[in-house]
Amino acid sequence: MTAPLSMFWFIPTQGDGTYIGSDIGHRPADFPYLEQIAIAVDRLGFEGVLLPTGKGCEESWIVATALAAATERLKFLVALRPGVTSPAFAARQAAALDRISRGRLLLNVVVGGDAAELAGDGVFLDHDARYEQAAEFLTVWRRMLSGEKVDFEGEHLKAFGAELAFPPVQTPHPPLWFGGSSDAAIELAADQTEVYLSWGEPVDQVAEKIERVRAAAARRGRRLKFGLRIHLIVRETAAEAWSAANRLISKVSDDAIAATQAMAAKSDSVGQARMTALHGGRRDNLEIAPNLWAGLGLVRKGAGTALVGDPETVAQRLREYQAVGVDTIIASGYPHLEEAFKVAELLFPHLGVGERGRQRHATIGGEFGVRAAATS
Ligand SMILES: Cc1cc2nc3c(=O)[nH]c(=O)nc-3n(C[C@H](O)[C@H](O)[C@H](O)COP(=O)(O)O)c2cc1C
Repeated sequence: MTAPLSMFWFIPTQGDGTYIGSDIGHRPADFPYLEQIAIAVDRLGFEGVLLPTGKGCEESWIVATALAAATERLKFLVALRPGVTSPAFAARQAAALDRISRGRLLLNVVVGGDAAELAGDGVFLDHDARYEQAAEFLTVWRRMLSGEKVDFEGEHLKAFGAELAFPPVQTPHPPLWFGGSSDAAIELAADQTEVYLSWGEPVDQVAEKIERVRAAAARRGRRLKFGLRIHLIVRETAAEAWSAANRLISKVSDDAIAATQAMAAKSDSVGQARMTALHGGRRDNLEIAPNLWAGLGLVRKGAGTALVGDPETVAQRLREYQAVGVDTIIASGYPHLEEAFKVAELLFPHLGVGERGRQRHATIGGEFGVRAAATS
């Protein structure tokens, strides 16, 4: 029996909806809705949730802290941009959230790839300099979380006598996950992080990146784990799943596609360029590998692909990623509340995960059901 995949879901802090790339059926990212999603996925047996960061997102640390109080087991993979705060401030935030959540914090280190947006955050470094700065940031952050008093003088950052009064629950520190596909990103991931994440490229492209990260880590005597960030559109039949995929982008205008592609073209992110290359901004030929659909990438930056199909087929495709080294899937689907139930109910039984959320209540039959009848 193949090992179970670890399944994460996504908290849509940018907003959610029935039709991507359109205002029709749009759901704002208001907190009660995000809380509903978190409570649902906690029950359904997802191991954790990813919270993105950026100018268009409700603030990830604040949202994660509030959701931690509303959930029991769910882990919070909170995105962190190293250039935006000092390492000492980020270290105090991480230690506090790790304590408040009773050891459920994971960090997703992302340097960002949009120069105009980063300028708004006060970050003016070019691509590779951002990674140099991130390396210095993580050096100070990790040493502080591990209990050291830190004196550090780097090219970008300085800290003297930096230390934590209150330690995190997890030792030596909450795990560092990481997303970035450039050479600079892979060197930093290999050097200082624990889990390397890729967006949902075709299996051979993900395998090639995993090999590069493994080799870079091996040169340092380290080993990483690997995760895949991808959307899922799972229905009882393949025909229903493809119809749901096409419906999702059915309100998208050519102008909306052009605007997203123009924004993506301005990014200096290698990972974004790899995603854009999969569809080239065209509506035809969106199934770029068996069951791998690039339709979301037309109007969504970042993770732009979905596995589409019946439960057996999607499970088999996920197993193909697992065979090249992936052990965690960070999934999502629009709208995130309903699709979390679909993934858990249709797909989890084929992956051997989420057993707890599927506990059956014995025989329910008759108009009020056996249990109801027995008590009424
Ligand atoms: C799984 C995953 C999640 C990401 N989440 C974010 C995010 O929340 N905010 C953000 O600015 N960038 C995010 N990124 C993008 C990284 O910051 C990105 O890869 C960066 O633009 C540098 O790209 P490069 O090393 O591929 O050139 C994410 C990347 C991956 C793979």
